[in-house]
Amino acid sequence: MLWIKESSLTQRFVLWMLLLAVVSSSNDIQKAVKLMEQAPLIDGHNDLPLQLRISYQTRLSKVNLRNLTTTKTNIEKLKEGHVGAQFWSAYIMCSAQNKDAVRLTLEQIDLIKRMCEAYEEFQLVTSSEGIAQTNKIACLIGIEGGHSIDSSLGALRMFYDLGVRYMTLTHTCNTPWADTSSVGVHDFYPRNVSLTDFGKEVVKEMNRLGMIIDLSHTSASTARAVLEISEAPVIFSHSSAFGVCPHHRNVPDDILHSIKKNKGLVMINFHTEFVACNKTATVASVADHFDYIKKIAGAELIGIGGDYDGANGFPEGLEDVSKYPVLIQELLNRGWNEEELKGVLRTNFLRVFKNIEKVRNNSTSLKPSEVEIATEEADNPCRLNLKNFAKSARNKTPSLHTSSLSFNLIVFIVLVCIW
Ligand SMILES: *[C@@H]1O[C@H](CO)[C@@H](O)[C@H](O)[C@H]1NC(C)=O
Ligand SMILES: *[C@@H]1O[C@H](CO)[C@@H](O)[C@H](O)[C@H]1NC(C)=O
Ligand SMILES: *[C@@H]1O[C@H](CO)[C@@H](O)[C@H](O)[C@H]1NC(C)=O
Ligand SMILES: *[C@@H]1O[C@H](CO)[C@@H](O)[C@H](O)[C@H]1NC(C)=O
Ligand SMILES: *[C@@H]1O[C@H](CO)[C@@H](O)[C@H](O)[C@H]1NC(C)=O
Ligand SMILES: [Zn+2]
Repeated sequence: MLWIKESSLTQRFVLWMLLLAVVSSSNDIQKAVKLMEQAPLIDGHNDLPLQLRISYQTRLSKVNLRNLTTTKTNIEKLKEGHVGAQFWSAYIMCSAQNKDAVRLTLEQIDLIKRMCEAYEEFQLVTSSEGIAQTNKIACLIGIEGGHSIDSSLGALRMFYDLGVRYMTLTHTCNTPWADTSSVGVHDFYPRNVSLTDFGKEVVKEMNRLGMIIDLSHTSASTARAVLEISEAPVIFSHSSAFGVCPHHRNVPDDILHSIKKNKGLVMINFHTEFVACNKTATVASVADHFDYIKKIAGAELIGIGGDYDGANGFPEGLEDVSKYPVLIQELLNRGWNEEELKGVLRTNFLRVFKNIEKVRNNSTSLKPSEVEIATEEADNPCRLNLKNFAKSARNKTPSLHTSSLSFNLIVFIVLVCIW
């Protein structure tokens, strides 16, 4: 007050301009917030469950998810960010491949289910209708990396039964049937074949089940091979545009065109390194990816997969999940219209998910695939070779005693290896 009294006219003018700027920018945020109240965000990827494993050994009793301060995600921030649905990642590191990846993935799914049951603000859903009908924060489950199914279509089907609705085909390691974009990070299955015959069977089975195929983290040639054969639309759950930042985790232009043909979706990742190819980025750097993909292939191709709690480094102004309206404000300022933005926030994903469900509803004549991966393609010491068992059993004429002994042995080995 004292300062105002003593200030010169110019100082007062500057002060008024500053006030005006604050008021008008909060008006823009109001516009973004109003839009998001009508179209709450469906976000494609969040790694809070991983943080809960790393920092709290999956013990929900140790945390209050409403106001947890050690993560980028908590319920208060989700509400402030107008998040209406979240794909929680049931991710486990590639170093578990061929070891306990299946158990660890099951435990992450268990964690997500417990988390979404323990808080009344959440509701677990498994369909596009489920997202549309709830007024809570819809919880969906995605598994991140084909290593989580241990090359087994039976395991894939059981994950679907548990409520998993997308699978990212690879994380940062090759699986026996698909290639990652992260060359040289792990030394599993070093080769360059994009998608093997078994990988094609995985794609077909996912189409039949209505499991969303997620191509984030896959190599460009794997993505191209999938796009050639998938009956259903596919998504990138958390990837940005290679044309803006040439990082291997981003989507190149030719694949943007194929996604357009496939009627799929690219859910843009906010992680600084993928957005700006740099250690620092701003809201504008993220918005550039939206403008770019819109120009190349259209706004109906775009969604959001923030990747919060899955990466270190987020742009200034987009530090946590409460900040999504800031980005929407920036896009409004850049001339995006409300229909386009409602698409980005929500309706584009719902359209894609519905089309995937339609392909599933239309596949009732197809039987569950009984294809197994070739033994030599998934060779590892933890896999029990039942073919050898059958041979040695045939060579003997086993007494009741030895056959029950071998049955017990099988059960024992299966338990030790899988669990
Ligand atoms: C979170 O909320 C609980 C219950 O209201 C409160 O006891 C706790 O102090 C809060 N924690 C933080 C970090 O604000
Ligand atoms: C894999 O092969 C494709 C073409 O077949 C090539 O464009 C790509 O660079 C190769 N990737 C690696 C990691 O060798
Ligand atoms: C990376 O960020 C630094 C610091 O903000 C900036 O000086 C530099 O120009 C940026 N580099 C690129 C390629 O954008
Ligand atoms: C698929 O079929 C189920 C079960 O009949 C039905 O509830 C759902 O609405 C259908 N979905 C679509 C997108 O047609
Ligand atoms: C349903 O299946 C039939 C026969 O396989 C096919 O011709 C048709 O295009 C499919 N429709 C959809 C929506 O997938
Ligand atoms: Zn990821």
